[in-house]
Amino acid sequence: MKRIENYDLGAHNTFGMKVKAALYIEYDSVDELMSLDYKSLPQPIFHIGAGSNLLFTKDFPGTVLHSNIKYIKYVDMGLDEVLLTVGSGVVFDDFIANVAGNGLWGPENLSLIPGEVGAAAVQNIGAYGVEAKDIISGVVCLDTKDWTKTVFKVGECGYGYRDSRFKHERGRYIITSVLFRVTRKYSPKLDYGGVRNALEGYDLNALKPTDIRDAIIRIRNAKLPDPAEIGSAGSFFKNPVISREHFERILNAECPPSAAGKGPVPCPEKGGPDTGIARPQGSHADIPHYDLPDGTVKVPAAWLIDQCGFRGKKLGGAQVYEKQPLVIVNASGSASPEDVLALENEIIAKVKEKYDIVLHPEVDHI
Ligand code: EPU
Repeated sequence: MKRIENYDLGAHNTFGMKVKAALYIEYDSVDELMSLDYKSLPQPIFHIGAGSNLLFTKDFPGTVLHSNIKYIKYVDMGLDEVLLTVGSGVVFDDFIANVAGNGLWGPENLSLIPGEVGAAAVQNIGAYGVEAKDIISGVVCLDTKDWTKTVFKVGECGYGYRDSRFKHERGRYIITSVLFRVTRKYSPKLDYGGVRNALEGYDLNALKPTDIRDAIIRIRNAKLPDPAEIGSAGSFFKNPVISREHFERILNAECPPSAAGKGPVPCPEKGGPDTGIARPQGSHADIPHYDLPDGTVKVPAAWLIDQCGFRGKKLGGAQVYEKQPLVIVNASGSASPEDVLALENEIIAKVKEKYDIVLHPEVDHI
């Protein structure tokens, strides 16, 4: 077990914020975790994963805990389904590489998401049409209330879009391992925009899980910053869901002035005359969207941020990433939490003013 006071958290947050914790403890097993005199540790207590989805806004006055429980055990090799239990400190992508390398289907669309297994089960990480909950069978925790081992079946975890009971009952449960259910059954998931295209040239009836994994890695590398090179915490905001009426109000708004300065023109899609003027970049009729089963509409936050002119915008050491405006990066390597918060607030205010949509951060603020 590692136990260090006044600990520099620089290596434990991919945003690269230079902050300190009063105490840092890293345990290697459930027994070590259980041996802690939890109530006497400096408060508050915060459990960290790889620090890939959080923004430390200041020095942390209490104890930061980290799991170094690392094992991947196959526990039930069924004819179709395979169950495995994975320690909370395993790098999520190492788990995927292991499963896909064994020819098993399930987590391959989540390839290259930074972070560790325990945090993935807290955050219900998702990408390319798959969420962690789709492959999680159960979550094994230590309940800090009475210091007992608790197992939740996936249906008891309260999973939603980047959401779970572990986020709402923050601090109560420490995840020590996760039970995953994967399958031998041929089941590539190609329907999320871009995945099929990235597999051009492949026989789509004879793919291997590693083919999908490689394709996803190519897609992600093309638009997301490599945390080893430039600090960020992935998508900074959640994608907002709005009512259909709100969506139609945006869709039917007048096009913004054209670059040629001819003033606002009714969008052709709205039934207005097609003036022959090329639709100016940013026309609301271009708004990408995904209709949800309950009639609401999901709008990519990246599009909204881009339309508000933030792509590439710098504020102090922080910057909206050029290739993907949903990501805020520590461009200078020495951005302060204040720089990031100021840029975040500016984005939220502008998107609210222009579209009457309130963006919510996806990144945890600590
Ligand atoms: N969408 C669909 N179907 C599609 C394509 C997109 O429903 O075929 C929806 C998505 O659910 C998403 C929105 O449209 O809500 C925008 O999708 P886009 O592919 O542009 O992705 P994004 O908004 O840039 C989101 C995740 C990423 C994840 C990608 C790929 C969030 C906040 N971000 O980003 O996750 O890698 O989709 O699936 O949901 C992260 O959480 O840090 C992250 C990088």
